[in-house]
Amino acid sequence: MSSVPTDLFPHPIVQAPMAGGVAVPQLAAAVSEAGGLGFLAAGYKTADGMYQEIKQLRGLTSRPFGVNLFLPQPETADPAAVGVYAHQLAGEATWYDTELGDPDSGRDDGYDAKLAVLLDNPVPVVSFHFGVPGREVLDALRRAGTYTLVTATTAEEARAVERAGADAVIAQGVEAGGHQGTHHDVPETDGSGTGLLSLVAQVRESVGIPVVAAGGIMRGGQIAAVLAAGAAAAQLGTAFLAAHESGAHALHKQALTSPLYVRTELTRAFSGRPARALVNRFLREHGPYAPAAYPDVHHLTAPLRKAAAKAGDAQGMALWAGQGHRMARELPAGQLVEVLAAELAAARTALSAGGAR
Ligand SMILES: Cc1cc2nc3c(=O)[nH]c(=O)nc-3n(C[C@H](O)[C@H](O)[C@H](O)COP(=O)(O)O)c2cc1C
Repeated sequence: MSSVPTDLFPHPIVQAPMAGGVAVPQLAAAVSEAGGLGFLAAGYKTADGMYQEIKQLRGLTSRPFGVNLFLPQPETADPAAVGVYAHQLAGEATWYDTELGDPDSGRDDGYDAKLAVLLDNPVPVVSFHFGVPGREVLDALRRAGTYTLVTATTAEEARAVERAGADAVIAQGVEAGGHQGTHHDVPETDGSGTGLLSLVAQVRESVGIPVVAAGGIMRGGQIAAVLAAGAAAAQLGTAFLAAHESGAHALHKQALTSPLYVRTELTRAFSGRPARALVNRFLREHGPYAPAAYPDVHHLTAPLRKAAAKAGDAQGMALWAGQGHRMARELPAGQLVEVLAAELAAARTALSAGGAR
């Protein structure tokens, strides 16, 4: 198997792109400076907002980094179901003294404009979430000198990623915090997500391109485990969400280890697509009947989530988190990379000593 280019990042540790203001340039710079791969999240930003962040990041580090894009979403939502959900959320709007958002606020996330920026001003790495880009897009990025990755949540999706010509695939286990990068949101498959160790092994046997493992990884020992299972690197979100430089709301960071939040769930409550979050009041009350309608529901609930954050009410916020959230460590991101790398080295030594016995 070919591997990820280690001249890009000496430690096999990728900081997950985290949209919603978490993966800010300061976080990505600290990770890349420490020898991991820092990532910016272009999701929900304008093309110019993305470009400004890239410029800011380039001012903070000369090390390689990545930028993540969301694929445009098909018009599959049932407007009537979105209307019913809006009706059910009316009380939330009254409570937080705000309006509901317009569900028709766009479904392509400025994809073409962002791609144009990334082709005019190439960056070292680009990853994609929520689908597979066309071969011509991946080819154009490669010609621009950019290394490409695409998320997959099943072996079948990983094969589609390889067929399209991506350089590597991100195998995202069901443990992962935030949105599952499933290529097509099919409600009938809810509850059938695959655990990371099993997924890495399946993807590894299905494709020849390098595999980056994501989902629930909080310690270097777990990175050693996914590398032993055939991954070339690990991508960590929740672990970096807690880092000093992360742009996550202070309440979100605190909630990761608070005894108030004992478990996570995959929910459509906030965005209309399955995403893993700490179980809070909003998720409990609205998750059970939220429709499969992304990004309609994302747009609908945006003002509610913003108002809840402004009011300091974590029970109304989207507290994205992976299953390992309780193991989060509030450290400077560079130090977190060093600690993870040291744990990884120790685990590898222990593994090889075990193998020698
Ligand atoms: C707050 C948050 C936001 C996320 N946003 C994105 C995103 O914009 N693009 C993306 O590809 N993945 C996103 N993810 C998913 C991560 O890429 C990754 O799969 C996940 O964080 C791995 O699981 P972990 O959080 O348990 O480490 C997000 C995850 C979190 C926690």
